[in-house]
Order: sequence, then structure tokens, then C-alpha cells
Amino acid sequence: MIVQFYNVSKTYPNGVKALNDVSFKLDQGEFVFLMGPSGAGKSTVIKLMLREEIPTRGQIFIESRSVVRMQKKEIPFFRRSMGVVFQDFKLLENKTVSENIAFAMRVVGAGNQEIRQRVPQVIKMVGLDGKNDRFPSQLSGGEQQRVGIARAIVNRPLILIADEPTGNLDIDTSMGIMELLYDINRAGTTVIMATHARELVKDSYKRVITLDQGRIISDNEAAIGDAI
Ligand SMILES: Nc1ncnc2c1ncn2[C@@H]1O[C@H](COP(=O)(O)OP(=O)(O)O)[C@@H](O)[C@H]1O
Ligand SMILES: [Mg+2]
Repeated sequence: MIVQFYNVSKTYPNGVKALNDVSFKLDQGEFVFLMGPSGAGKSTVIKLMLREEIPTRGQIFIESRSVVRMQKKEIPFFRRSMGVVFQDFKLLENKTVSENIAFAMRVVGAGNQEIRQRVPQVIKMVGLDGKNDRFPSQLSGGEQQRVGIARAIVNRPLILIADEPTGNLDIDTSMGIMELLYDINRAGTTVIMATHARELVKDSYKRVITLDQGRIISDNEAAIGDAI
């Protein structure tokens, strides 16, 4: 088990109950959708995984480590096991594609040699060959999200977390992004993707954990198994 949520509830300081007794487990190598309407609690699940928030109740383990009990000084290193992709890309506008990705490596202390070798590899992997020196403003939305994904996987995280990664993209572009996420998953990375977009989820043959008003209302784990 790479992710374990046990009876997790989260009430924000303003009294909003975002999660109510949420339990689920993810195996290494799984692809799972976290589905539900806006306000269902999807981003809260993600923030709890990253330890950006702490649950009001319950326990969370990532790679068998208690995320709740973890000390502050352990958090930066812990977060390196996860790559995160955002709806609004969050690219550095004054840096090129290569520089955006290289920056993520520098932050974790990678050397120049390693960066020179790895960055073009990842650019190729996400289908942006030849666009190394473009700035984000010179890319389409879908291409910008590919940079976001490249940056998220460049340090080889165990888990790729994507929070509404297609939220700003049209359906065709979204499909392309999904194929890329499936490829990354096939190569061994556990992927968890939050989305409210039913059309991306249906017919995907993937595990879907559905949240509504902070509760899990369905999880087709058993039905899907290792079918795909
Ligand atoms: N930092 C916060 N403070 C207070 N309430 C919040 C905060 N973040 C989220 N919420 C509330 O918690 C609920 C779940 O939000 P969220 O996890 O962002 O849902 P989703 O990502 O599914 O749209 C919503 O009612 C939202 O308004
Ligand atoms: Mg959200």
C-alpha cells in the first residue's frame, strides 16, 4: 500500500466540514480518479496527502509513514516523493520550458550534469520535443500542462498527483493529457487525479473513488482490479 486513509475527517477553522470519515487505500502502480462535484472535498484529500493540511480526525500513511505525526523538518523531503500537477499550470512565466523543468531539479539539489541529461528526456516524454526554448506564453494550454507534468515527474516521484489537470482545457486537449498520464502510470508511477469531468472518467476502465459532500459514495476498486 502506498497511500492509506483511515477514517479521515477534516473540518476547516471556519467550521466547513470538507471530509467526513474517508477511508481508502491505493496500491503502488494504481491509477485512480478522485471524482466529484466542486466542493466535494477532492482538493482537501490532496492537501492532506501533501501535508499542506492536517486532518481533524483519522490517520494518513504514505509509504507506511504517518503523515499526521511527521515532524515539520521532515516535510520537505517527504514531499519529494510526490509530483503535483495543477489546474492553472503554475509555470514560471519568465523561464523557458527547459528552465522551468530544470528549476524543479535545482530545488532538490540536482547537479548540472544530471539536469542537462534529464531535462531533454522528460521534454521528449511529454511530447514537447523542439519546444525547449519556448516561454509559457508561446505555448498552447495543453502544451503548458505538458510542461507542468514534465516538471512534476522530472524527479521521479512515486506518486503523481493531478488536481483538475484538464480543468482549463478543451475536451480533445484533455484526452491527450489523459493519454500522457496513462503512459506515466504504465511506466510504474502511481497516479491520483482529481476531476469533476465525468466524460474523462467514464469508459476509462480505471478505479474511480467518488466523493460527495465530503464522503466517499462509491469506489469501484473491486470491480476493476487489474483489468487494465
Ligand atoms: N482553506 C479552506 N478553508 C475553509 N474552507 C475550505 C478551505 N478549503 C476548502 N474549503 C471548503 O471545503 C469544501 C471542500 O473543498 P475542496 O476540497 O476544495 O473541494 P473540491 O476540490 O472537490 O472542489 C468546500 O466547501 C470548500 O469551500
Ligand atoms: Mg478542487
